[in-house]
Amino acid sequence: MNVDLFGEPLTDVRSRGGLGRHDHLTFRGNVALGRHGWLRLTPAYSLHLVRRLLARYGPHDVVLEPFSGTGTTPLACAAAGIRCHAVDINPFLVWLCKLKLTRFDDGVPAAVVKAAARVADAAREPGAPAWQPDLHQIEKWWDAPTLGALGCAWEAIRKPRRPRAPAVTELLSIAFCRTMIQTAHVSLGHQSMSFKKPGDDVGLLSEPSGDARQTVVNAFLAAAREVADSLVVEPPVVDCEVVLGDSRHLPAALPSDRPRYTVVVTSPPYPNRMSYIRELRPYMYWLGYLSNGRAAGELDWQAIGGTWGCATSLLNGWTPNGQGQIPFPHFDRIVEEIGRGHALLGRYVHKYFEDIKSHIVGLRDVLAPGAHCHYIVGNSKFYDTLLPVEGIYAALFEDAGFVDVGVETIRKRTSKKELFEFIVHAHVPHRPRERSARGVARSSRT
Ligand SMILES: C[S@@+](CC[C@H](N)C(=O)[O-])C[C@H]1O[C@@H](n2cnc3c(N)ncnc32)[C@H](O)[C@@H]1O
Repeated sequence: MNVDLFGEPLTDVRSRGGLGRHDHLTFRGNVALGRHGWLRLTPAYSLHLVRRLLARYGPHDVVLEPFSGTGTTPLACAAAGIRCHAVDINPFLVWLCKLKLTRFDDGVPAAVVKAAARVADAAREPGAPAWQPDLHQIEKWWDAPTLGALGCAWEAIRKPRRPRAPAVTELLSIAFCRTMIQTAHVSLGHQSMSFKKPGDDVGLLSEPSGDARQTVVNAFLAAAREVADSLVVEPPVVDCEVVLGDSRHLPAALPSDRPRYTVVVTSPPYPNRMSYIRELRPYMYWLGYLSNGRAAGELDWQAIGGTWGCATSLLNGWTPNGQGQIPFPHFDRIVEEIGRGHALLGRYVHKYFEDIKSHIVGLRDVLAPGAHCHYIVGNSKFYDTLLPVEGIYAALFEDAGFVDVGVETIRKRTSKKELFEFIVHAHVPHRPRERSARGVARSSRT
């Protein structure tokens, strides 16, 4: 019997519909897992899955996570004593991940609780109208009293009356993010954040009470206590690093004194038109990582698969870069078929794989001989056309000179029967590629 990576039966799961949703393999399983549970953000993938992948590796390895998101891989590495370098294009996620990877002093949890009490005192005082972010239709997110109370709490965090350690302020900001999202009129029960409908109680808190100020303060104090408590749960035991950069150009994005990475564990954006900038906008506006819609669209355009705001019009004007085809049988036909339904979507898929190709080609240059790569990806469907994402990744790895490329199906993604999540495994050959040896021979003849 074939077994999956975790020794669980794998064969025929698709045909018998036996590959269930397995929520422990998604971000839903992360809540309450120490720092992994700080914020419940859409980009996060399963800690369970990452831990099981990392179980094969040890302190002699150096892991690369090129799409680090909320930092699941680097934090799991840091707690397991495995060095890791991570990259993400989103500055808010890089900030969050850096904070998660910080090795705090023993006194920090108590300092956070103490400082939170001072913030609460300041936020309870009636004062001048507080700052609020320039988030589009902010009134849909919070009613005016809640917004006022959040603004006061935020000011008390960012402008303390008594000096405090910067790390404490950053941790209070995490508690603020939790409070801000808990008191928003949004539903968190789906992968994508949506505004609450009447009677919808999927949020983490009940509706704000009449006394919005007290509701905000109570939520903030509880969040600060949880953040403080989380610091001692599986803390980092080695230093890991995250950098802001573009993984389509990895050699330039990574530190110049980098080691040769021996393992990659990652989950790139899926080609499903989900925008991380859109999902993360309340956090990014409050924390000052975004201040207007144009900047949001431009940042999404830098992200692989981003099409939010002006990224859509930029995609409309995009043409293939012409640097080689996507080496997958019928790729052009698939793109054409998708484009027949909506030209923009055909272009979207084409650009997505050009970006991934550029990433995989650059990846090859930063890995050690024999390195192991594990890419968690999901397939997509556009109209009636199924996009075999896992197969195209496998073809791109092979084309870039990786060997022993294989695809493993890990779970069903949605109620749509054709949508699954996979791990694409690929390895760097131990010896230099034959093809590059031929290339050298050819160029030496000219
Ligand atoms: C599926 S999420 C990663 C999830 C992550 N493993 C976690 O657990 O949070 C994909 C990430 O890729 C990032 N990303 C998109 N385009 C990128 C690029 N060109 N370079 C680096 N990161 C990028 C996004 O910001 C997002 O955080």
